[in-house]
Formats: sequence, structure tokens, C-alpha cells
Amino acid sequence: MAIAAPTPSDKFTFGLWTVGWQARDPFGDATRPALDPVESVHRLAELGAYGVTFHDDDLIPFGADDDDRAKHIARFRGALAATGMRVPMMTTNTFTHPVFKDGAFTSNDRDIRRFALRKVLRNIDLAADLGASTYVFWGGREGADIDAAKNVGASLDRYKEALDLLCQYVIDNGYDIRFAIEPKPNEPRGDMFLPTIGHALAFINELAHPDMVGLNPEVGHEQMAGLNFVHGIGQALWHNKLFHIDLNGQHGPKFDQDLVFGHGDLLSAFFLVDLLESSGYDGPRHFDFKPSRTEDIDGVWASAAANMRTYLVLRQKARAFRSDPRVQAALVASRVDGTVAPTVGPGETCAELVADVDATFDVDAAAARGYHYSQLDQLAVEHVLGTA
Ligand code: GCO
Ligand code: MN
Ligand code: MN
Repeated sequence: MAIAAPTPSDKFTFGLWTVGWQARDPFGDATRPALDPVESVHRLAELGAYGVTFHDDDLIPFGADDDDRAKHIARFRGALAATGMRVPMMTTNTFTHPVFKDGAFTSNDRDIRRFALRKVLRNIDLAADLGASTYVFWGGREGADIDAAKNVGASLDRYKEALDLLCQYVIDNGYDIRFAIEPKPNEPRGDMFLPTIGHALAFINELAHPDMVGLNPEVGHEQMAGLNFVHGIGQALWHNKLFHIDLNGQHGPKFDQDLVFGHGDLLSAFFLVDLLESSGYDGPRHFDFKPSRTEDIDGVWASAAANMRTYLVLRQKARAFRSDPRVQAALVASRVDGTVAPTVGPGETCAELVADVDATFDVDAAAARGYHYSQLDQLAVEHVLGTA
């Protein structure tokens, strides 16, 4: 099947830290040279991307003085202007420097918490300046490795205090920015706070400005916890909390692989694209992947392109799946639309419900009915394989 090349209207974005990853891991040194963010902007634009995202430190080295900072920003702005690339999302690095080894917003050390807030506040000003409308919080070091280390309730109080303060800052400055929390169960900490979509949704409800805070769920992070990412996104959408998304690939519960999108649980990726494309979500399709440590620099760009192509292939396949008359018949046979109708009639009372069940419901016949889900799943598999 012919797949069109990506264009900015597809809204594909990449973190500067993704293609820029030098492939240092806990066991080995970098296998690739550092990439200039300006080059990344140009290369990604050539590949058809819509924009880039970044942590403050991806662009401006930690500790840079004001002059240096201004120079880095000016060069970067030049690349954006030359390519038309956008910056729809920004975030803060509160995990690399050793000062954050016990966390940032939830560090047991108050001075460090205050330093972290200053770092974020400064970068939010830059985000507003560059037109980023989403600001992500991935709590890389928020968490613990031993249970005795943390007062979980007090830590969550401090997490809430930080987000409440930052929301107020955005309001006071009139910035057009919403926050998105990115859950992750573990890595680098043994256990991280706000480990899953569900934990983060519950936390958001306790904030002073819950309307300003949503989610940036990542495929691999939910799958590391053995959870169903498509269902997680379905629930985030139901709460109107899908503010942004990190697409990548993961082979089940193990270390965070950050593979190319689709290069993990392919059927889940198919149903994710199917859901995103029909959901009304119009935000960026953001890839948070790591080009494999075994790739050279050509492989970096090839794998960046692979993310977009896989998404576009799956988008086309999802459309073909939905318009296939056999799929439509299978959906009817499986009664998938059955949950659309309310279970209880308008104005119906519990007494009426009880009476109706007693009168008309044949429990044995209902128990005997099959749902034909295997047939439906096989059709999905055949569409993905290209044999439908
Ligand atoms: C990870 C995370 C990060 C975040 C990034 C932006 O597991 O390393 O996914 O890549 O997405 O820090 O918030
Ligand atoms: Mn990840
Ligand atoms: Mn991520």
C-alpha cells in the first residue's frame, strides 16, 4: 500500500533528547557524538516533522550564564525561523544533575525543592516566549528506592504545592499554557510517585486548578507496569485529560526500552492509532524514543523517520479496518455498540428495574450467547498483516 510521506499537518514532533541521545547507559559509554540542536531541527524538518520539544538543559547547558543562555536561544530561534518548525511542548530537566538525586518537587531537602521551582519558573517563561502551549512534568527522580525514605503523604503535599504554585504563576502572567503530568512506574527510582495514568488522574483532582493539569502518557511507561495503554488513553480521554502523548515501543515489563513506535506491542499500537484518530485528539503526535545504542548517526535519522512512517501506516490500516464491511458486521455480531445505550431507561426506578428483570430476562439464554471476539481480533490481525 502507498503511504504518503509525513508532512507538518500530521503534527509529528520529537524531543531534542530523543535523536540527541548519545546512548550512554548504566553499563557503557556514549556510542554517538553529541548532536547540535540546530542540526536536529533542520534534519527533523527535512523528514516532515511539525516541531520539536525539549528540556531546558537540552538546549542550554546546566549552569550556563545569562549571555550563554541568550546565545543558545538565539541560534535555536534561527533554526525554527528557517524551517518553520514549532515548539508545542517544553519541559524541565529535574533529574540529571546530582542535586536532584532525591527528587525535585519532593526532595526531602527544602532548599533543593526551592531550587527546582526556580529552575522550572525560569523555563516556563521561555516556554511562553516560544509559544509552547503544553508544559510537561515527568518526575524522573520523584520517588524512592526504600520505603522508609519517604513520607508519601507529605511528599504528595509538596508535589501538589509545586503544581499549585506553578498554575498560579501561569495564571498571573496570562500565559496560554497547560500542564501535563507524565506517569512512570519506576526507573530511575525503584518506585516513582504518580506511577500510572490512574494515580496521576486521582492526584490532579486534588489540585487547586485541576482544569489546567492533564496527562502526557507514554506507551512504554504503562506497558512497563503491565497495563493496557489503549485502555489508559481511553480513560484519559474520558476525563478530558489527554493533553499530550509520548509514543514509542516497549516489549512488556522490563527496563524502559523507548523503542521506535510500533516496534513493541504492534497490535496495541494499531488500536492506539485507531483510537487517537477517532477521538478528536488534535495535539501533537510526539515521539519519545531512543535510537538504539547500536545505531550510528544515519541510523538515528532512519529510526526517527520510522516512527512517523509506522504511525502513518497504522493510520491507513485503521481506516481500512473501520471501513471493511466484514469488520462492521463483526462489530455488530460482537455487540460492541451495546454499551452506548444507558442500562436503565429514562426515569426508570429501581422497583421497575427489579420487576422487568423478573419478568423478561432469560438468564440461561443470555449466558449461552457468544460474543465472537476472536473473529473480530483476527480481522484486526489480518489488517495489520496486510492479508485482510
Ligand atoms: C523517560 C521519560 C522522559 C520524559 C521527558 C519529558 O522515561 O525518560 O519518558 O523522556 O518524557 O523527560 O518529560
Ligand atoms: Mn520512556
Ligand atoms: Mn516520555
